[in-house]
Amino acid sequence: MSTHGKRAVRQRLRAATTAAAAMALLAAPLCITTSASAAEAHVDNPFAGATQYVNPTYAAAVESAATRAGDATLAAKMRTVAKQPTAVWMDRISAITGNADGNGLKFHLDNAVAQKGAGPIVFNLVIYDLPGRDCFALASNGELPATDAGLARYKTEYIDAIAALLADPKYQDLRIVATIEPDSLPNLVTNISEPACQQSAPYYRAGVKYALDKLHAIPNVYNYIDIGHSGWLGWDSNAGPSATLFAEVAKSTTAGFASVDGFVSDVANTTPLVEPYLPDSSISVGGTPIRSSSFYEWNFDFDETDFTAHMHRLLVAAGFPSSIGMLIDTSRNGWGGPNRPTAASTSTNHNTYVNESKVDKRVHRGAWCNPLGAGIGELPQATPSGYTASHLDAFVWIKPPGESDGASSEIENDQGKRFDRMCDPTFVSPKLSNQLTGATPGAPLAGQWFEAQFKTLVANAYPVIPGGTTPTDTTAPSVPAGLTAGTTTTTSVPLSWTASTDNSGGSGVAGY
Ligand code: BGC
Repeated sequence: MSTHGKRAVRQRLRAATTAAAAMALLAAPLCITTSASAAEAHVDNPFAGATQYVNPTYAAAVESAATRAGDATLAAKMRTVAKQPTAVWMDRISAITGNADGNGLKFHLDNAVAQKGAGPIVFNLVIYDLPGRDCFALASNGELPATDAGLARYKTEYIDAIAALLADPKYQDLRIVATIEPDSLPNLVTNISEPACQQSAPYYRAGVKYALDKLHAIPNVYNYIDIGHSGWLGWDSNAGPSATLFAEVAKSTTAGFASVDGFVSDVANTTPLVEPYLPDSSISVGGTPIRSSSFYEWNFDFDETDFTAHMHRLLVAAGFPSSIGMLIDTSRNGWGGPNRPTAASTSTNHNTYVNESKVDKRVHRGAWCNPLGAGIGELPQATPSGYTASHLDAFVWIKPPGESDGASSEIENDQGKRFDRMCDPTFVSPKLSNQLTGATPGAPLAGQWFEAQFKTLVANAYPVIPGGTTPTDTTAPSVPAGLTAGTTTTTSVPLSWTASTDNSGGSGVAGY
């Protein structure tokens, strides 16, 4: 966050301290002891030196999948996934108090407090209920219409209710990191010709401004605005206008640029962190620039490290302080498994070269729904090294791996979600240059547990997910010479020996 932001926080803290001092004068001297539990000041990178909240409900779903994995190695990897921090999504008003799909926000905040050790802990929260949500697709359409009435409900029943909980002093020691409204502002940059997006546009702007204002007013909340991904906003003709739009919305808030701590890319998408065999997007093959390939369509940003560096540069040029940090959702952008290339192609045709070299195995970068073959990416980690220009605060898991992006056929529901053919593996989509979607078949509604996809995500993880100790030798243990065995089971044997007075053997170290 900005030095401007730090000043604002200091001012807020100072105001609070002055008020507390005034209270102390009026009340009994014992009140002064409350200052011992003063909240920590807003920091630049909330992830630095912090652990992150592990959602017990998600962990239980993963543990349950592990018991059904039918493969000891896969099950062990799943159990590593169960220990990872994932974000908690407030995807409708009822998610705040809890509904059939999960526990409410208070449950998670209380658990985060219980998980906190001596150091700081980050609680990843997703704000996702704008009026007219998901205006360019159908799978995650929401409950609130793009109308004044929808916006009024968004403010009072959704944002105000969340902010009231977060502001509870019980939670002042959590670093709450809010991912603000995935896909919303990016849709206004590239999809404004769509009538639904035109209708939503004023409500997206007003809703995001309101969320930023309310959440920034709580000193331990950190706002990160969603910026799509490299295959969406990477082109200069999209990236430039995006930076301008984000700056406009930030400037419309009470605290201005200081209400934004950073930006988050690749939320719920599968665009790779790095294309290791296409490190330079400006080269030509066979005399043709590889970025003109049908996969990259002249986009310079082949991966998320390119894109975050690009966006950081443009955002700072648009007025954001250089201290803003970037997050990348690496929950599903791994692309490992048997189809991962191991070297750059030797083809002299630029399209073949790109297709054989890229680790992203989708047919088109616009294929966003449950892409078959994707794997889990980097495990969550703070301040990842090696990407200086990207200004990364952390790799995070915003989309919990194993939760669907959308149903592959019509499924009735009361959440406003609809059937998007991008989730149908039999559909040839005009949005994908008339190619099949590549979606995983048999998908449930967006947000629901999708075990078949989860298995592939774990199996195709890159880097490979460590799986703890997997027993490979299943023969019962034998008894070393000189020892006496007790009752032998399939996995253990108790051993005993009789002490001897003979000290002639041994190394001499303990031979007395
Ligand atoms: C869905 C949400 C869900 C989220 C996380 C979105 O695509 O629309 O309902 O909470 O994914 O899985």
